[in-house]
Amino acid sequence: MQLHRAAAAAAVVALLSLSLLTATAHNITRILAKNPDFSTFNHYLTVTQLAPEINRRETITVCAVDNAAMSDLLSKHLTIGALRNVLSLHVLLDYFDAKKLHQITDGTALAATMFQATGSAPGSSGFVNITDLKGGKVGFSPQDNDVISATFVKSIESIPYNISVIQISAILPSPEAEAPAPDPSQMNLTSILSAHGCKVFADTLLANPAEQTFESNIKSGVTIFCPGDDAMKSFLPKYKNLTSDGKQSLLEYHGIPVYQSLSGLRSSNGLTNTLATDGAKKYDFTVQNDGTDVTIKTKIVTATIVNTLIDEQPLAIYEVDKVLMPIELFKGALPPAPAPAPTPEADAAPPKKSKKHGSPPAPAAPSDSPAESPADAPVADQTADENGAVRFDGGRFGAVILSFCFVFLQL
Ligand SMILES: *[C@@H]1O[C@H](CO)[C@@H](O)[C@H](O)[C@H]1NC(C)=O
Ligand SMILES: *[C@@H]1O[C@H](CO)[C@@H](O)[C@H](O)[C@H]1NC(C)=O
Ligand SMILES: *[C@@H]1O[C@H](CO)[C@@H](O)[C@H](O)[C@H]1NC(C)=O
Ligand SMILES: *[C@@H]1O[C@H](CO)[C@@H](O)[C@H](O)[C@H]1NC(C)=O
Ligand SMILES: *[C@@H]1O[C@H](CO)[C@@H](O)[C@H](O)[C@H]1NC(C)=O
Repeated sequence: MQLHRAAAAAAVVALLSLSLLTATAHNITRILAKNPDFSTFNHYLTVTQLAPEINRRETITVCAVDNAAMSDLLSKHLTIGALRNVLSLHVLLDYFDAKKLHQITDGTALAATMFQATGSAPGSSGFVNITDLKGGKVGFSPQDNDVISATFVKSIESIPYNISVIQISAILPSPEAEAPAPDPSQMNLTSILSAHGCKVFADTLLANPAEQTFESNIKSGVTIFCPGDDAMKSFLPKYKNLTSDGKQSLLEYHGIPVYQSLSGLRSSNGLTNTLATDGAKKYDFTVQNDGTDVTIKTKIVTATIVNTLIDEQPLAIYEVDKVLMPIELFKGALPPAPAPAPTPEADAAPPKKSKKHGSPPAPAAPSDSPAESPADAPVADQTADENGAVRFDGGRFGAVILSFCFVFLQL
């Protein structure tokens, strides 16, 4: 009995500290839900998937508008993509609470917005001009707009210096943000990647037939996980060691042949085929939630989605913090279970003498079948075409094990 009680108490303490921990992160949906005046704005932050991006960021200001102002915006019948751009213009990448707004140096300041950060804002259209006006008012307008478009109404919530949520009187007009986002099938994939922190990946892709695989899948839906520049740069030596087929498979491994929104990924965890899949259980990875994050787990690495470059059916591109290394290409890199760091010997050991040196617990490690498949060769020795010669847009063929459920709320 007493033991049980102690265990229960411990569980409660654990739960409490867990909830305290998670309480430090802000949740824009929860903040806005306290006031029904902002229910429409709140709803569309979720529909456009800006909410998770807002929650992820620190030092930001969300300029919310009430339901009446939102209905003006909705009467324009913008596409979801355009709506997302408009709302992202209302998220300033700096912290402005009521006090700071009224104490702007020289009475005027320019704030970059999340629209700016998407890279799809032409010129200076992603900046908002904040101006202290006569009589204690504060005006907001897109830069280059001569007239004040909206004024500060009140503070909704502020958590210095993480997030300030304020109400402004109207939606900031922006022809650039409202412009229909280009049809994703017309978009140049590599230029989107380059413009948003995945330039090294884009350049690598451009020099490889994998680019065609990605392009040809856009129409029917594709989701791309691009490693950020730092991750890709440090991976390049390993990449250069791959055979040309290995390179193509590595790149195609970073795409899945369906469109998946972030919330779609979040709600359909599990094993997924990729564009490199060319047979059962080949080149797949596991999508798995980790708290609020979504991770991509290969048998070698676990990468986390850190940014959304574009999310507009049929194309979604997410930045991941690591290069996704498929077991098919990097068997030698499997972290040895008991031993500490991979010994140079384990890395360089030729595959032929399968003397089993007590290393990788690879699921299919055929330690006594003498290297029947060239895929057993470590990366360094890789010369054979280990990916199979047949390459017919493998991803399209691979039905994904996830179930896809696109809930698209009608505008
Ligand atoms: C602000 O964010 C940081 C990092 O997420 C967190 O550690 C801190 O507790 C937050 N501050 C408040 C007041 O919530
Ligand atoms: C934020 O709050 C909403 C409403 O309370 C909840 O449904 C959602 O799961 C929360 N999001 C996170 C990331 O905690
Ligand atoms: C903001 O707009 C006001 C009024 O149009 C202008 O006087 C001011 O110079 C602008 N501020 C910046 C930083 O561009
Ligand atoms: C995309 O742009 C790059 C250069 O910016 C070009 O090399 C490539 O061919 C373009 N791709 C398509 C599909 O137009
Ligand atoms: C590339 O291969 C060479 C030998 O083939 C090897 O010495 C080197 O460690 C490999 N580099 C990486 C980064 O895997």
